[in-house]
Formats: sequence, C-alpha cells, structure tokens
Amino acid sequence: MKGKLYGIGVGPGNPDLMTLRAKELLDKSAVIAYPVKKLGEEGVALDIIKQRVDISGKEIVELLFSMNPDDEVRKKCRADAMEKVCGLLDEGKDIAMVTLGDVAVYSTYMYIDRDIRARGYETEVVPGIPSFCHGAALARLPLMIGEESFAVVSLAKRNNENAEKVLDSVDNLVIMKAFASIPAIVGMLNERKIPLSNATVMSNVGMPDEYIGPLDPEREYGYFTTVLIKKKV
Ligand SMILES: C[S@@+](CC[C@H](N)C(=O)[O-])C[C@H]1O[C@@H](n2cnc3c(N)ncnc32)[C@H](O)[C@@H]1O
Repeated sequence: MKGKLYGIGVGPGNPDLMTLRAKELLDKSAVIAYPVKKLGEEGVALDIIKQRVDISGKEIVELLFSMNPDDEVRKKCRADAMEKVCGLLDEGKDIAMVTLGDVAVYSTYMYIDRDIRARGYETEVVPGIPSFCHGAALARLPLMIGEESFAVVSLAKRNNENAEKVLDSVDNLVIMKAFASIPAIVGMLNERKIPLSNATVMSNVGMPDEYIGPLDPEREYGYFTTVLIKKKV
C-alpha cells in the first residue's frame, strides 16, 4: 500500500501552538520532510516540532525549494522534491511535511499537494496558526473587527504598486515578507498621511528575538517580519 502525505502547519514559532492533529500525525509518521531554501540550511519548522515530537528513529528528509528568481530553477527544485516524496510514498511510508505557520498562507506545500494528488496519492492538509494571527494576539490588536475589511499581501518582490492598491481599498492590511521593504512601507504610509504609529511590526513571532511593536524605520528586521497596518485606530 502506498503511503499518505500530510502537509502540516506547525505555527509560527512557539511549539505550544501546534495543533493536537499535527502532534498526532508527526508522532506516527515514519518520515518527516521539511523545506529549506538552501541545502544544509536549518529547517525552522523542523526546529519547532523537535521541541515537542521525538524524531529519533524517523527518517528526516530535507526538501529544497529554491527562492531563485528564475522560474525554471524553482520548478526544477519542486520536480526533484516531488520525485523524492513519491519515492517514499511508493515504499508505503507516510510522510509528514512540516510548514511554518499555516499551510495555505504563502507555502510551497500547496503546489506539492496539488501535484501529488494529481499523481493519484492520498494527502491531508492540517492547518496551523498563521504568523500574523499569533502576532496580532501578542500585539492585542484585532486584524479586523465589526464591518472592517482585511487583506494580506507579500512585499518580497517589492511589488509596491499592488500593495498600495490594496492598502487604498481595505481597513486593515497585513504585509508579509516585509523584511526588505520597510522603507517602501514607510513611503506608502507617508504618502497617504497614515501615521507610522498605525503600523505594528511583528517580527520573529514565537521565536528568539521576538519583536512586536512600532515600526522603527532605523531598525533592521529579519526574514520573519510581518507588518500590520490599521487605518482606523
Ligand atoms: C513563506 S511565508 C510563510 C508564511 C507562513 N505559512 C504563515 O502562515 O505565516 C514567510 C513570511 O511569513 C511571515 N512569517 C513567518 N513566520 C513568522 C514569524 N515567526 N514571525 C513573523 N513573521 C513570520 C514573514 O512575513 C515571512 O517573510
């Protein structure tokens, strides 16, 4: 019998925020797969689960999902990862593939899930807490309340135009992959006369060096940085 693939969201950093379903599946799966952007890199999602799941005796598989700007390089990586996953499933092994935060939020896992199912394998997606939900909880801020609207954008590619369009049409905006776009965000706010104090930075949520607080344009922020802009405060 072929194995089953589980795509498991493990939350943004604090292992106590893993769901019971995630823990149950991680405990019973023979193989744990984790995504990396570079080979040999530390897997953040793997580090989170290791704090609550005994992974000794399990097969740990690193899957490379390059962030190379070249589409073809990224597709090739996904194809290689697919081959690895299918090989293990054909051996009858269940695979738990861990993802930071939630599986449906900017996660490569969803491509894998689609392609694996297209090849006739069984999969299950286990949601996790997205980084902005934990960040908002720590900041004691609603993401949206009453009749307010809310949107999420990514600014990794400095696609300011899209982010600006969305900001102009919603009450609350979460900007993910904001690490390299802080100056652009400050510019967007200034142009619209939205006070900087309406932006909250949620960085390394649930991780060491967590920062939840005002947007300080002078400060350096790492990859795990998300910004919440609230137009009505
Ligand atoms: C590839 S996306 C993954 C999103 C993830 N699936 C989620 O549900 O949050 C990476 C981006 O998510 C955000 N992120 C992930 N973990 C985070 C954390 N612990 N603290 C703050 N932001 C985080 C950052 O914006 C980061 O650049």
